[in-house]
Amino acid sequence: MNPVETGRGLAVVTGASTGIGYELAKCAAQDGYDLVIAADEPQIQDAAAKLREFGGKVEAMQADLATPDGVRRFVAGIIALGRPVDLLMANAGRGLGHGFLDEDIREAQRVVDTNISGTIALVHNLGNRMRARGQGRILFTGSIAGFMPGTFQAVYNGTKAFINSFSFALREELKDTGITVTCLMPGPTDTEFFERADLLDTQVGQSKKDDPAVVAKIGYDAMMDGEGDVVSGWKNKLMSAAANVTPAGMLAKQHRKMAEPGSANN
Ligand SMILES: NC(=O)c1ccc[n+]([C@@H]2O[C@H](COP(=O)([O-])OP(=O)(O)OC[C@H]3O[C@@H](n4cnc5c(N)ncnc54)[C@H](OP(=O)(O)O)[C@@H]3O)[C@@H](O)[C@H]2O)c1
Repeated sequence: MNPVETGRGLAVVTGASTGIGYELAKCAAQDGYDLVIAADEPQIQDAAAKLREFGGKVEAMQADLATPDGVRRFVAGIIALGRPVDLLMANAGRGLGHGFLDEDIREAQRVVDTNISGTIALVHNLGNRMRARGQGRILFTGSIAGFMPGTFQAVYNGTKAFINSFSFALREELKDTGITVTCLMPGPTDTEFFERADLLDTQVGQSKKDDPAVVAKIGYDAMMDGEGDVVSGWKNKLMSAAANVTPAGMLAKQHRKMAEPGSANN
């Protein structure tokens, strides 16, 4: 039964303070869902205030989802609401530019902890609750970056290869449970991602990017349609199709051109 028809459903969105996550939350709010949103910084409260303008309830939680404790606190906050989760959008993530050996290893590990460890911990907990109820939709924000070795962004691309792969595996495991699993795979999108990852002096950092509202709508619709994955934008579709038949060494060389520090000036 569609939760929107029986009263308001509940959508959980991580990384909803800015960018794609904020826009995913907006899609759900416009679609009649109440929201629980999370991010690491206090700005999540500003996002909540804007999202309340759509008329639903919005709970905002500041939680560091790169840590087991942050995930536990976030899940406890959701459970305390006493409502089942209808939609789970596991979107929180961060990038990191520069050569691997030149990166601060703690920052590199934080990329793994946010994009992978925190994500699977959250989905394991809420996914089990969905399975017990026999209903739910899960959306991961993967990336076309997961299709290519990410020279000068090596850890990040590795985490997105994990998410792209994990999403399809989980989808297959849950196919008879009433839960759908979808992976949104955006290309370069106009958010704070590139600045936060210190990629602004790179070719990809300076390239024309997709509108996060358009990207999020494509992902949201794919989730509601129960699709397995969606690559947003025809250019990104072409790129991902080409990546599937290009040797990894060549993809790594191509990625150098896009992401090498200073490549914006080449
Ligand atoms: N922009 C792109 O080109 C692009 C392309 C493909 C995929 N993606 C993916 O899209 C997702 C959203 O990124 P975006 O582009 O929208 O970038 P963004 O504007 O920087 O948003 C990232 C969101 O994740 C949150 N976040 C990061 N670390 C967190 C943590 N440890 N705990 C809780 N929240 C955390 C941020 O909140 P705080 O500010 O509070 O940390 C923010 O709300 C990411 O998974 C990213 O990998 C982006």
